[in-house]
Amino acid sequence: MFIFGKKDGKAGKLDKDKLPRHIAVIMDGNGRWAKKRGMPRSFGHAAGAETFRRIATYCKNIGIEYLTVYAFSTENWKRPADEVQAIMEIFEKYLREAIETMERDRVKIKVFGDISVLSPKLRRLIHEAEAISKKYDGVQVNLCVNYGGRDEIVRAARAYAEHYRKTGEELTEEKFSSYLYSAGICDPDLIIRPSGEMRLSNFLLWQAAYAELYFTDVLWPDFTEKELDRAILAYQKRDRRFGGVKG
Ligand code: FPP
Repeated sequence: MFIFGKKDGKAGKLDKDKLPRHIAVIMDGNGRWAKKRGMPRSFGHAAGAETFRRIATYCKNIGIEYLTVYAFSTENWKRPADEVQAIMEIFEKYLREAIETMERDRVKIKVFGDISVLSPKLRRLIHEAEAISKKYDGVQVNLCVNYGGRDEIVRAARAYAEHYRKTGEELTEEKFSSYLYSAGICDPDLIIRPSGEMRLSNFLLWQAAYAELYFTDVLWPDFTEKELDRAILAYQKRDRRFGGVKG
């Protein structure tokens, strides 16, 4: 079955039966977008958060099961304090609004990352948003905050080592996955990075094993539903073999 992703249909037809179950996005280019407009970087992050909101709604509407976005990495603390603070404030605002409109939007929210270093207020909002939205079964949005792929793997290894000490249970890939933030969630089928950069930057290193990668020069605040259609269309043309041969 084919659907037009956008009303004007310009990006083409999406095959509804071949949609990626899980899309992940590195929301890059906010700073450059703001600079082009002579504005502070925080202005770009605020615009990026609005883009995220639109794309999450769109994913829900077309039937994507999981959307994982990289909002703040374990390395982003190196940025100027005012920029870090601005991102945390945007995150807080988003959570407050998401909690207020949850009954209407029915988006399930999860946070991936070490939230122990975030402010108590932010942690409270995260717990509240996760707890209230648990019951929804539309799109699940995973917000990566203070997240790093290597950090996630090291934490999982530590937790498994502890389990092994007590039980001696053998380690399998499946078992290891159950210690990651993404436990119980299928791996991303499609990873999108806007803004012209072509690297993973410590994002979902374990889970990205067989993800299709899509890069575009569009800066994240300019990323539209039509751009997402383009990425999904490119994905639908890929030949996914998972290490096997064509059947
Ligand atoms: C990368 O662009 C972007 C970030 C490090 C922050 C992304 C954060 C948001 C979009 C807001 C988070 C809020 C929610 C609700 C998810 P960059 O700053 O590195 O851009 P540049 O490469 O052009 O400098």
